Amino acid sequence: MMLKALGYVGLRAKSLDDWVAYGTRLLGMQVVERGASNLALRMDDRRHRLVVNADGGEGLQFLGFEVSEPRTIEVLGARLERQGFRVERGSRTLADQRYVEDLIAFTDPSGNRIEVFYGQDAAVDMFEPGRPISGFRTGQLGMGHVVLTTSHFEEMVTFYRDLLGFHLSDYFTKPIQIHFFHLNPRHHTLGLLQWPTDGVHHLMIEVNYLDDVGQAYDIAQLNTDLVAQTLGRHINDHVLSFYTRNPSNFMTEYGWGGRSIEPDSWTPREVIEGPSLWGHERLWLPPDQRALSRDLRMKAASEGLRIPIDVQEGAYKVAAGTCVPQDSIAEATRRGYI
Ligand SMILES: [Fe+2]
Repeated sequence: MMLKALGYVGLRAKSLDDWVAYGTRLLGMQVVERGASNLALRMDDRRHRLVVNADGGEGLQFLGFEVSEPRTIEVLGARLERQGFRVERGSRTLADQRYVEDLIAFTDPSGNRIEVFYGQDAAVDMFEPGRPISGFRTGQLGMGHVVLTTSHFEEMVTFYRDLLGFHLSDYFTKPIQIHFFHLNPRHHTLGLLQWPTDGVHHLMIEVNYLDDVGQAYDIAQLNTDLVAQTLGRHINDHVLSFYTRNPSNFMTEYGWGGRSIEPDSWTPREVIEGPSLWGHERLWLPPDQRALSRDLRMKAASEGLRIPIDVQEGAYKVAAGTCVPQDSIAEATRRGYI
């Protein structure tokens, strides 16, 4: 893999105050920098993961993908230039702004600014979450995943797969056309959603404990318009999550229990059972597509489709006196979900 993970994300916003409140009190991130027009939020042992620029806009400003070796930046830059893409060599000033050793930047076919960097600064002190959560699941998996909307679907798939080296995880066509790609054991680091407009659909961040999601769901519902997709569980990456509309006017998926895949032996396929096993009422979709999504969940329920949960070592204990129906595990295995 040329790229190894999503390292940082830059957003645009109208109000930094809104992002401070949302980022700390709901998501549980830590403010590490607050300027007149910029905000940096920390999630783990890295200096920061999320930066917000209050330029009056909204949506995505840049995505930062990490590489393991400085040389990879040169190799990738040369490859992009051979294909006619303009590659900006990151100046020392820009590298210092991003707290990385080196970077390049370019624009994808949908117009998103993509940065590829090496050597992100680590923090020297302990992460102090904005509310008392167990912490975020990052490390080799990176900070989460991002799903982009694109009106240049085929070009984007070719760009990310053939030029940047993303590997297809799986895809579905109903209720919407979307392809998922991985860089590491996280099932997907990137999703490309065919859509009339180019932009960002959601950013997913994952916490270590299920209860962190449940408590966030309670907090989110204190604000009547915040939840954009109800609590539910995805079929392909097994993530149990809900979505809120963030102050940059797209969605944040707040999840737990993402599966770990083996990138070297993974075989991509079409997911026909739908995007969600249960829940995830898509309040952002038009009624006909919401109904299609609901029909798929009702079918999964009528077939008793179940997928074992993915837990982290030390975050569970086995209950006594239980008998897990092996036929449902066999069925989930047969369908390729575990
Ligand atoms: Fe997601």
